[in-house]
Amino acid sequence: MDPRQGRAFVDGERTLVDRAVFSDPALYQQELGRVFARSWLFLAHETQFGRAGDFFTTFMGADPVIVTRQRDGTYRVLLNSCRHRGMRVCRYDSGNAKAFTCPYHGWSYGTDGTLIAVPEERAAYGERLDRSEWGLAAVPRVETYKGLVFGTWDTEIPPLREYLGDVTYFLDVLLDPDGQGAVMVPGVHKWRMRGNWKLAAEQFAGDTYHVASTHLSAVLAEPGRSDEAPMPTTGFQVAMSGGHGIGGLDGFDYWRTAGFSEEVCEWMAGLADRAERHLGRPRARDAVFFHGNVFPNLSLLFIRSNLRIWHPKGPDAMEVYSWAVVPASAPPAVRRALLLDYQRHFGPSGTWEQDDGEQWHYSAGSGDGFIARGLPLHYRMGHERVPQASFPDFPGSVDDVYSEANQRCFYERWSELMAVPHPAEFRDGARPGIGTAGGSVDAQVVAP
Ligand code: FES
Ligand code: FE
Repeated sequence: MDPRQGRAFVDGERTLVDRAVFSDPALYQQELGRVFARSWLFLAHETQFGRAGDFFTTFMGADPVIVTRQRDGTYRVLLNSCRHRGMRVCRYDSGNAKAFTCPYHGWSYGTDGTLIAVPEERAAYGERLDRSEWGLAAVPRVETYKGLVFGTWDTEIPPLREYLGDVTYFLDVLLDPDGQGAVMVPGVHKWRMRGNWKLAAEQFAGDTYHVASTHLSAVLAEPGRSDEAPMPTTGFQVAMSGGHGIGGLDGFDYWRTAGFSEEVCEWMAGLADRAERHLGRPRARDAVFFHGNVFPNLSLLFIRSNLRIWHPKGPDAMEVYSWAVVPASAPPAVRRALLLDYQRHFGPSGTWEQDDGEQWHYSAGSGDGFIARGLPLHYRMGHERVPQASFPDFPGSVDDVYSEANQRCFYERWSELMAVPHPAEFRDGARPGIGTAGGSVDAQVVAP
């Protein structure tokens, strides 16, 4: 593939994907600018921050960032890279700080990113260091949706709510089922895996198809299942503009078949009633078991109470940050049951997580071989089928559960972004939208 063309599909029908998108180092470098620097990226949940100075470190694409809560309750997102030699100024996962002091030579930055102190400043620099020019680079736009904090380096991108579009219809089922919101269980699971980040993102966007094969042994181990009917086979795939995808199964009572206690089953049944009143019947009743991906790399699992992000770590590796997210109204016993359910299935050692990771591990590098490189991958499931009308109230383009419409939608969006070079790719180009804390571009928070 010619990396400058930035396309995923190799055929006119746009159903065959070039393996280079999973392994080409040049494409990976382009992707960091054209996709990650041009999208809204999930950073953290507001329940991770209690007071001013609380911080959480994460990544935007391959760039390390610090998310900090300011005195006025807004969030500031700073590039975690000292302006002197590039050292990480904060090496903790989370905590509370009054300032970030670089361990290397001691330059000190306020939690708003301003350079506030330089050791031996007068002896070292005389009058020649203008501190206002050397603050940490600050992410110019920060907005929230139902507790999720997002940032983007792109000053031209539409507001977050518009960017999310129809996917909020489903996000709300996880983030605000009964009008009382959701909380992240404290602590973030982090692990690295072999495989390009898109292998995971596209699977969560639309691949319910793999469940009966990849997860068969784990499904059969569930206490309430029988060999004859391991999983339902009806459901939906919803492709949404912007590259977002949601897919899932319908027609079964997960809580009872998965062996939860009577107390948990009853509470979840009550939650479903409250959700129906709060959100309306279609999404509260029909979307009972779904997976999804918010373009580019935020994935979610309703029922498994999970939000996760796939950080790119080179063309052939990713790092997962994964949270358990539970309804804020859930009593302690239910919270604990949901947390255990998430850990048992999708924590780092969870059965389903191990199943998926194995597939991505052995799919990694599938485009490295000379012969394999010339063989595109098959994304034709459901192509040219007339979409069904089983879920007329769902937004977006709805198809049968066995469809790869969501994956095609994901790669359409990816191709669209990849086709346009990022200005910073040109040596003499400006870097619009990337300001320092002392510069003219301020972070902003938009209330949900
Ligand atoms: Fe941070 Fe020198 S690298 S003070
Ligand atoms: Fe899976």
